[in-house]
Amino acid sequence: MNLQGKNAIITGGGRGLGKAVALILASEGVNVGITGRNEENLKMTVEEIKKHGVNASYAVFSIDNEIHVKAGIESLAEQLGGIDILINNAGIGDFGSIEEMSSEVWEQVIKTNLFGVYYAAKAVYPFLKQKGEGDIINVASTAGLKGGPNMSAYAASKAAVVSLSQSMMAEWRKQNIRVVTLTPSTIASDMSIEGGLTDGNPDKVLQPEDFAEWVRDILKMNRRALIANGSIFSTNP
Ligand SMILES: NC(=O)c1ccc[n+]([C@@H]2O[C@H](COP(=O)([O-])OP(=O)(O)OC[C@H]3O[C@@H](n4cnc5c(N)ncnc54)[C@H](OP(=O)(O)O)[C@@H]3O)[C@@H](O)[C@H]2O)c1
Repeated sequence: MNLQGKNAIITGGGRGLGKAVALILASEGVNVGITGRNEENLKMTVEEIKKHGVNASYAVFSIDNEIHVKAGIESLAEQLGGIDILINNAGIGDFGSIEEMSSEVWEQVIKTNLFGVYYAAKAVYPFLKQKGEGDIINVASTAGLKGGPNMSAYAASKAAVVSLSQSMMAEWRKQNIRVVTLTPSTIASDMSIEGGLTDGNPDKVLQPEDFAEWVRDILKMNRRALIANGSIFSTNP
């Protein structure tokens, strides 16, 4: 499918995986709205996106606040002239043992990673429903398929995203909305490098561009085809 002229919103689009997806979609002619908390990153990324000759804008809000998410998404929809694609990507990774991690941090991980996905999808859904088609890509993690030590909050949040995304898929498929659940393994980014999961070595570890190419290819599939879920790993970690 040709993506030219479509409008995409990418949460957490100012850096990391979200930024790579924003740039690759722009190179396909997609108009892009990005969101996040850091306005400087968002501004700089919008300038990079515009070099591809597409419309680009940003909205600053925290993904854990439903009212702000709805207002931000609606303002981007107005600026872009509608929404065709949501990449539900914003998330945080806080790692530590159950004993040592504070309940406040634990709750914040769930609020950001799970509620954020829910709020953004809920805000975008009316636009896709009205159009009679659309795509939502929910970024979970392999951590959501199997918990492990020092990742209880992150793994629980991502397991819940997997389940929420499956429910979205079942409910919205009938409206010609493709909901895709992605469970990537470690990819070099601030989150994975600061979290000590990888040194980011490009000869060994997935890079944000690999993730972005995968997302682009999923979106380009003929509309009769829905990739319901998928994982991506480094070949030789
Ligand atoms: N990297 C990996 O190894 C890996 C593997 C599997 C899944 N994932 C998932 O992929 C997604 C992107 O991760 P990444 O590796 O690109 O991480 P990252 O480099 O740390 O970027 C996180 C992004 O999320 C945004 N964000 C975080 N908290 C937010 C909040 N409260 N409100 C609004 N935006 C918020 C950040 O924007 P601001 O800084 O502007 O707030 C940033 O753009 C996450 O959902 C992550 O769990 C990553």
